[in-house]
Amino acid sequence: MTKRHRVAIVGTGIGAAHLNGFLANPDRFEVAVICGQDPARTAALAAQAPGAETHLGFNTALLARPDLDIIDICTPPDLHLSQATQALQAGRHVILEKPLVASLAEVDALEAAIARTGRTLMPIFQARFGNGLAMAKHILASGQAGRIHVATAETHWYRGPAYYATPWRGKIAHELGGAFITHAIHLHDMLTTLLGPVRQVSAQVATRVNPIETEDTGAVAMEMESGALATLSVTLGSPQPSSRLRIVAENVTITSGDAPGITASGPFHFAAREGTNRAWLDALIATAPTGPEGFAAQFAGFADTLDHGAPLPVTMAQARHSLELATAIYHSSKSGQRVSLPLPPTHPAYAGWASDLRR
Ligand SMILES: NC(=O)c1ccc[n+]([C@@H]2O[C@H](COP(=O)([O-])OP(=O)(O)OC[C@H]3O[C@@H](n4cnc5c(N)ncnc54)[C@H](O)[C@@H]3O)[C@@H](O)[C@H]2O)c1
Repeated sequence: MTKRHRVAIVGTGIGAAHLNGFLANPDRFEVAVICGQDPARTAALAAQAPGAETHLGFNTALLARPDLDIIDICTPPDLHLSQATQALQAGRHVILEKPLVASLAEVDALEAAIARTGRTLMPIFQARFGNGLAMAKHILASGQAGRIHVATAETHWYRGPAYYATPWRGKIAHELGGAFITHAIHLHDMLTTLLGPVRQVSAQVATRVNPIETEDTGAVAMEMESGALATLSVTLGSPQPSSRLRIVAENVTITSGDAPGITASGPFHFAAREGTNRAWLDALIATAPTGPEGFAAQFAGFADTLDHGAPLPVTMAQARHSLELATAIYHSSKSGQRVSLPLPPTHPAYAGWASDLRR
């Protein structure tokens, strides 16, 4: 059965992009409440959501409203665990922005709250939904691309003093981490979507661009469970902002676009081995699935989960793996050791990576 799910968006920064994602699915969602802390910003966003009320502060009055189906949490990272747990306990389904929470232990606590309440929580990774990425996935899954040898992911963005004027940014206690947790997390999630899970990590992170507590630069070498090797290059100090994925398999080299933001939508470039017939590749390109992208696609998938029991478009396991990778990167950088995944609850960084980030 389908219904229009009534949503409260909490947070008016990236919450504005969430609103557009819901508005793109008018038969599935009704944004009933815009919740924020700043009255002017909250009212300004509510004005873009036909019929929405404003609500100031994430509080019991919001949670007690009987007319809400979904609480969509778009607040600073340090608030995620507490707000998501309270929303689940209030009987609401939850959408939760990245980074999900502050540690693998907190991921497990959130899993326990989901199991206890019987509600559904969907982590956000809207960059999984892009036609370029879908085409790359289609080609790699066909078996015709052959084994992947190596891949690179470059997140070369720019963030300056204006960005860090927002008080929670750049602080370990509030942003939880830097470029690996906040910015490059999308491209690294896209990489593991295509290559599968990570087996081993060797990393160095540094703060080289801005006078902040969190890291803004890093270099990582990884072995994937498949045996493929991959490197991650990250900085928030690039004069020419760009993001780029490159995957070299036996029979195809895949290169994403290099737009400054998230590159899932394409166009991706697919090159067959020089001197060979590329008809097989063109046939796969022609049959790759295309459709809505970004938040609109992820939210449509969430409605399918709630209405028809379809698989969640982004799972807790996927969000957990992205945090496990970040945990391993920070621990490798601090300890100077290679770190193997998965990280068990006995691992020193299971309870959090904050001490690995402090210098
Ligand atoms: N998926 C993406 O592409 C993407 C992009 C940007 C940010 N994010 C994530 O979204 C989250 C928010 O980031 P942002 O850039 O929008 O931050 P922001 O500072 O622009 O917005 C945060 C919002 O949260 C509100 N808020 C804070 N505490 C609150 C409370 N107790 N009750 C009600 N509202 C409260 C603030 O009023 C503000 O509207 C972060 O986790 C960030 O990592 C994701």
